[in-house]
Amino acid sequence: MKIGVIGSGAMGSGIAQLAATASHETLIFDNNSVALRRSAEKTAEGLQARVDKGKISREEAERILNNITYVSNLPSFSSCNLIIEAIVEDLEVKKTLFKELEMIIEEECILATNTSSLSVTSIASSCRNASRVLGIHFFNPAIVMPLVELVPALQTSNNTMQIAKEIISGMGKTVVIAKDTPGFIVNRVARPFYGEAFKIFEEGIAGKETIDWASRTIGGFRMGPFELTDFIGHDVNYAVTESVWTSFYYDNRFKPSLIQKQLVDAGYLGRKSGRGFYNYMDPIETRVVSEDHELGSQIVNRILVMLFSEAADALYMKICSEEDLEKSMTKGVNYPKGLLAWANEFGISRIVRMLDDLYERYHDSRYRCCPLLRDMDRNKEIFKVSKN
Ligand code: NAI
Repeated sequence: MKIGVIGSGAMGSGIAQLAATASHETLIFDNNSVALRRSAEKTAEGLQARVDKGKISREEAERILNNITYVSNLPSFSSCNLIIEAIVEDLEVKKTLFKELEMIIEEECILATNTSSLSVTSIASSCRNASRVLGIHFFNPAIVMPLVELVPALQTSNNTMQIAKEIISGMGKTVVIAKDTPGFIVNRVARPFYGEAFKIFEEGIAGKETIDWASRTIGGFRMGPFELTDFIGHDVNYAVTESVWTSFYYDNRFKPSLIQKQLVDAGYLGRKSGRGFYNYMDPIETRVVSEDHELGSQIVNRILVMLFSEAADALYMKICSEEDLEKSMTKGVNYPKGLLAWANEFGISRIVRMLDDLYERYHDSRYRCCPLLRDMDRNKEIFKVSKN
């Protein structure tokens, strides 16, 4: 296969390396020649580091590099079978690019967008043959993260989905299919992990250190919500939350948090700027953790119940299958268990009761219980997923 990648930033560079590793002839283009050169250097350095660590052979690194061609114009993409764009997250710019590409490529070529927040259907609408367009959403870093969400636009053909699925699975990725709705699967279902934790903190129920501690030691998450968003970058995490919230017509379930907005305004973007919720420039910063197990369990249960609620809602709205939902959260954001299996363990009745109690307390629609959970509770059902 001949695969084209457009945009040589963090995502495009990773996607090109993946395609080259899977033995595809790979072309990559960026309209900024400095970015393209930087991408070439970083990919070579990254592969060299893997050779030095003994993870891959020198021949393997050379093979991968030889499969990548850095090109300086779009017409070079004329004979590609698949083109994946990973350019700036701007609807009009992406639409213009797809329109231009359609004048260059062959009829069978598939066009994919790596967008994480825009409507794939809207991007596809710029094309004469919209049935060849789909979303192929990789996670950062693309080389490492196993999950890829495939997102059919309203116009996408089954054939396009089938071919894309084969190519991406062939890159060793776990493929899930998501409906073209804001946040797809992962960026939608994971929102309460941050949002509910920030709310608990804002209300003074517990400090950030305690919430992080509880999430790790009681919840089994790899990182707590504060350390994780410091790691992701508050600009990035806030932008996703805001985008999902506005795209859902300001549904309270996705409402961003003022404390995170303040961090962004202050330029406290997390680890990358030396300061976020925590101060990484101060080696003796004291972190006060109250190792109160009862409080910790309450915090974790509240965050979990909101995650279960979001997962149930995604299922109820037919965003994806049960199986793909489980894979998405374990492989896309490293949750210790699939949320549906976890909800079964936690108890469906208990989830409904906790949501109703929260709703009763706050009268905030973010705590409304999904009809699916209520029906399941009434019929004494559980989610149909294997235990994990
Ligand atoms: P980035 O800013 O690192 O790279 C974007 C690159 O695209 C830049 O090098 C820029 O010069 C180039 N570019 C912009 N307009 C162009 C055009 N018209 N033609 C050719 N090149 C152009 O951005 P990043 O993080 O790699 O994101 C790219 C896309 O991937 C966005 O749509 C983003 O939403 C999506 N995405 C990002 C993730 C992340 O964690 N960074 C995760 C998943 C998806």
